Amino acid sequence: MTSIKDLNPFRPGNGQSPPYLAGRENEQGRLKKILAELSAGRPPAADTVMYGPRGMGKTVLLHWFENEAKKGGTKDNPIRTSWTTPNKLTSPADLWSYLLSQDWKKRLKPNQWIAKFALLSATWESRSAANQALVSALTNECKKSPLIFLMDEAHTMDAGLCNGLLNLSQEIRNEVPFLLVLAGTPGLRHFLSTVNASFVERSNKIGIGRLDAQSTADAIVKPLNEHGIKIDDSTLAPVVEDSQHYPYFIQLWGEALWDLAKEKELQTLTSQEVTTAKTRVEGVRLGFYGERRLRLKDDGLLKVATDCAAIFEGQSRFKEADLEKAIKDSLPDNQSDEPHESQVLRDLARHEFIWNPPGTGLYEPGIPSLMTYILD
Ligand SMILES: Nc1ncnc2c1ncn2[C@@H]1O[C@H](COP(=O)(O)OP(=O)(O)OP(=O)(O)O)[C@@H](O)[C@H]1O
Ligand SMILES: [Mg+2]
Repeated sequence: MTSIKDLNPFRPGNGQSPPYLAGRENEQGRLKKILAELSAGRPPAADTVMYGPRGMGKTVLLHWFENEAKKGGTKDNPIRTSWTTPNKLTSPADLWSYLLSQDWKKRLKPNQWIAKFALLSATWESRSAANQALVSALTNECKKSPLIFLMDEAHTMDAGLCNGLLNLSQEIRNEVPFLLVLAGTPGLRHFLSTVNASFVERSNKIGIGRLDAQSTADAIVKPLNEHGIKIDDSTLAPVVEDSQHYPYFIQLWGEALWDLAKEKELQTLTSQEVTTAKTRVEGVRLGFYGERRLRLKDDGLLKVATDCAAIFEGQSRFKEADLEKAIKDSLPDNQSDEPHESQVLRDLARHEFIWNPPGTGLYEPGIPSLMTYILD
């Protein structure tokens, strides 16, 4: 039987932890600081919002944080974590079942808590007695052990439910250690601004973007070395460049190189394997780009995306106003006004064609080299 250590360690896909989690020291440092406060029982000052284009590693980082949290806390003050995604939530009742602990639910008969939660299904806003009873129950639980509530893919949440959750978080985190962490695509920022919870502006924003060149090299070389496979710096250089430091492509490259080393029973990879691996990576990548292009086309965004791609050829980052101008120039005369410009800008961000990493005030390409593909 093949043992797990003989299997390819690279994991190009969705939310699968890579063999080496590279280049997230800053983000991990920020998250550890938040965790330290929570471990000490101190209520967090704000919610945490993590966002970045698809395939950048948000889910992976969220898993890392969840694991850190499980290790954190003290015997008397263990940290509880709860993870969910919007597709599991059809009503506030579902949300409550993720917020309150198993212990709390066990104390009631199943039909009792289901009935209690069901009372809330109508709306979060109703400050009914049942709602307040649940808020108090959660507050008491958090006093005993801090809770980290992790919501991945948060940009797909129902707006009413999201508004309720944000308000609940604000209400209880004034008093007790309750940390809400939302992760999603760059569209999450706009989504949160539409759900009517203005305090989200003051949330702790963590942008998840591309890695730097050294971390990209580490993400590939370290797992290869661990399996006795070597590659020297000059052979690796075109791999690092071609991956564009994009985590999903990094895993594709690692997977192809590892497979080739095994197929040819090599201990050192040469530029010959790099050339063969490139064909394999390119095949997957073309499918990926084709899919993205079709989605832009379906939403009538292909022309404006092509015009934007053209301006990004000469410059890698743009101020919002400059990008708006490029969009304005691209739109037909009868749509060349501010509401249309803003809408198109948002749509391009929703498609992750462009994104605005927090703290930069500048837009950059979302999924790298998609722009080159669109132009071609
Ligand atoms: N820091 C990293 N170093 C190396 N590989 C990484 C890193 N982060 C993520 N990856 C890899 O990148 C790929 C995408 O990761 P992940 O699914 O977490 O991205 P995501 O941002 O959650 O994407 P989506 O928005 O589609 O859910 C996975 O194959 C993962 O193993
Ligand atoms: Mg994800």
